[in-house]
Amino acid sequence: TDEQFKNVISHAKEYGFVFPSSEIYDGLSAVYDYGQNGSELKNNIKTYWWKAMVQMNENIVGIDSAIFMHPTIWKASGHVDGFSDPMIDNKDSKKRYRADQLLEDRIAKYDEEGKTSEAEELQIEMDNALKAEDLPRLRELIIEHDIKCPVSGTANWTEVRQFNLMFSTQIGAVADDADVVYLRPETAQGIFVNYLNVQKSGRMKIPFGIAQIGKAFRNEVIARQFIIRMREFEQMEMQFFVRPGTQKEWFDKWKETRLKWHLALGTAPEKYRYHEHTKLAHYADAAYDIEYEFPFGFKEVEGIHSRTDFDLSQHEKFSRKKMQYFDPEVDPETGKPFGNYIPYVIETSIGLDRMFLLTLINAYEEEDLSTDEKQDSRTVLRLHPVLAPVKAAIFPLTKKDGLPEKAREIMDKLKLDFNLQYEEKDAIGKRYRRQDAIGTPFCITVDHQTLEDNTVTIRHRDTMAQERVNADDLDRIIGNLVSW
Ligand code: GAP
Repeated sequence: TDEQFKNVISHAKEYGFVFPSSEIYDGLSAVYDYGQNGSELKNNIKTYWWKAMVQMNENIVGIDSAIFMHPTIWKASGHVDGFSDPMIDNKDSKKRYRADQLLEDRIAKYDEEGKTSEAEELQIEMDNALKAEDLPRLRELIIEHDIKCPVSGTANWTEVRQFNLMFSTQIGAVADDADVVYLRPETAQGIFVNYLNVQKSGRMKIPFGIAQIGKAFRNEVIARQFIIRMREFEQMEMQFFVRPGTQKEWFDKWKETRLKWHLALGTAPEKYRYHEHTKLAHYADAAYDIEYEFPFGFKEVEGIHSRTDFDLSQHEKFSRKKMQYFDPEVDPETGKPFGNYIPYVIETSIGLDRMFLLTLINAYEEEDLSTDEKQDSRTVLRLHPVLAPVKAAIFPLTKKDGLPEKAREIMDKLKLDFNLQYEEKDAIGKRYRRQDAIGTPFCITVDHQTLEDNTVTIRHRDTMAQERVNADDLDRIIGNLVSW
């Protein structure tokens, strides 16, 4: 629900996960900063992805390409001409909207009101208009369905125009059209233009993949739902290069493999679903989204796309450099090597920020701990221990009697391997609550007995159960839970 989502957003700020960008200057729309716990969580998600994709697959390697690229790349990829949204302005409020979004909202409203045939009909009409890039028709639909500006309340609309989503800037000192560069709207093109560099230098044989994590930028016109739609965001993408004709098989395999990656974190399977694209992007011959059920409904988190040889062929055309791969393997049908061809590509593309939000929402719980005697509750992030920003917190029971020194000594032995937090302020109960709120799986308390027999109490986040263990075993106990 909205209420629950609002609570997660304020929790994210209060506990150092996500801050609005430039907050003291009243923020910058659709841009956010990650705080001390947020950047740890984000890094842990990246590592989980990188390990699953690169470390676990001998035929996948990772790269880190630059954000700035030769501007012709975006001509070749189709982004200069095709990467735009149809926009419409309300003449009274001067507010700008995505025409398709206005129609989507109306379809959702019809659905809510039980007007299913109206909803279906409008959906088809809108899809057709989008496919045909019939901008006047989009406007007609908005007028026909009497869609009004939420701000002015009027239906005084301009024409629908295409609005390119790429940010541009200039390279060097001269402001000239020739010096225009774009901030990449996807990381994928950095992989495509390097595919032969990687293939040759790494002696990769088809099928093989190239993975990358990095920033992407889109001048989204409407910012929505916190970090779901940002202007600066991060993607984790992998392009898998395959022999033409085998793309369907690999597409199915990656579609399954990627959902398994999500489910391995322990998320309830019913929170996820596939969504098949009927409107395909200019580069794709098949596409599925993996969607997660956010408090505001199912939303795309990851896309699996069969991109054919579109991108590589386009780069061959625009760069006039050969993009072919020589396949020495013998085709059993002809008895000859498969030879030269441009590979087909299956892409898996996940938004890191959306994965971050999903993780936070899925972990967030306001737990009622009331008993007959007293009312009590806690906010706990039930994060998978591998993803938790802080793996364990170390508390001396009191600030005296040598307990802080002993606690520090234990901490020093562990902190090279795990991100830890030391806390000596406030009562132990309060310290537990603070750690629950950031999802720390273990709290370790050093007391007077520790000085005698080197045992500590370890308290588990989820069950709140406590046990006494030898301090020398902490390494193994924490390690078992926070690594795969
Ligand atoms: N290379 C293919 C590609 O970029 P996409 O469906 O446009 O495909 C992939 O984007 C993923 O990137 C999405 O599933 C989403 O998670 C994330 N994403 C896209 N636009 C975003 C935005 N404005 N803010 C946050 N994440 C975004």
